[in-house]
Amino acid sequence: MRLIWPWQDRNRRFSWLKAGAFALILLPAIRFAYQFATGEYGILPIAYGGMTYWSGVWATAILLMALAVTPALTILRWPALVDVRRMIGVTALAYTLAHIVIYFGLRSWNFGFIVNEMATRLSMIVATLSTIGLIVLGATSLDAAIRRMGAKGWQRLHNTNYVISGLAVLHVVLARGTYPEQYMLAGIFFWLMVWRMLARYGLGADAKALMALTAASCVFAACLEAGMLWGRRGYEVSWTLGNNFSLASLDVGVPPAWQVLAAGLLFVLAAFGRDSFRIRSLRPEPRRIGL
Ligand code: HEM
Repeated sequence: MRLIWPWQDRNRRFSWLKAGAFALILLPAIRFAYQFATGEYGILPIAYGGMTYWSGVWATAILLMALAVTPALTILRWPALVDVRRMIGVTALAYTLAHIVIYFGLRSWNFGFIVNEMATRLSMIVATLSTIGLIVLGATSLDAAIRRMGAKGWQRLHNTNYVISGLAVLHVVLARGTYPEQYMLAGIFFWLMVWRMLARYGLGADAKALMALTAASCVFAACLEAGMLWGRRGYEVSWTLGNNFSLASLDVGVPPAWQVLAAGLLFVLAAFGRDSFRIRSLRPEPRRIGL
């Protein structure tokens, strides 16, 4: 079996693209280790709470990054980007496994309690299903598995990654807390899934369609937040929605709907940039006027 390091391409040559992407997704783990070492999370029993939360947030964010590779390469017309997808997906699995180990620490390694919680709380049931799915996808991500399963069988199995990611996002939304990251991650997942529908109709790189999708995802995140805060905390829907337009709410952080808007706008700008670059390169050279 040939081992390919995260910074190597298929021919085991050094790849700047893969090395750069790997360094980027490793940053949260480095920051995490630093915060843990410097005691920023507090003493261990308290630290586990924050660590469970942030390891979960990064596992989900990196999972969504893997889903963002296809839109990015379609919009930028940069097929080489596909090389980083598998590496990002496997890293998301590593973050998820770390998240689970930290969770075991949070529950003091009491497996009686852990099994009971994982089998009775809906949020945990979907998390377990999603994790099993991620492990299966990770285990079959090697070239040897692709050869053994055949390209079609492998593709069919790996198409389940949308359901697996959906279950992970459902776990995030149903988790006990109510945090902005839940609605931001759900809004971005909405964008990534609806983008696949647009792509089926040949609109995957259409800047206007992407703008409409970004606006819809922003509204989706705002409504999800308002609905969840109403259902769980009893906050008025109009009050939560209004907070999206209040400067005072910036003291707590940028509202999730605006974060989704910013993420979507990156793709819109890329599509506009790509279109104008293409138009300029298609334009005939101005004829030289001889003197
Ligand atoms: C067996 C698998 C898993 C277990 C046991 C687990 C456990 C937990 C626990 C205990 C929390 C704290 C919040 C709560 O008590 O509801 C949590 C939060 C979180 N988990 Fe997981 N998790 C698992 C899988 C995953 C997966 C696959 C992802 C995403 C890839 C994920 C992402 C998150 C996120 C983002 C949070 C923070 C959400 C919040 O607390 O509001 N988890 N998880």
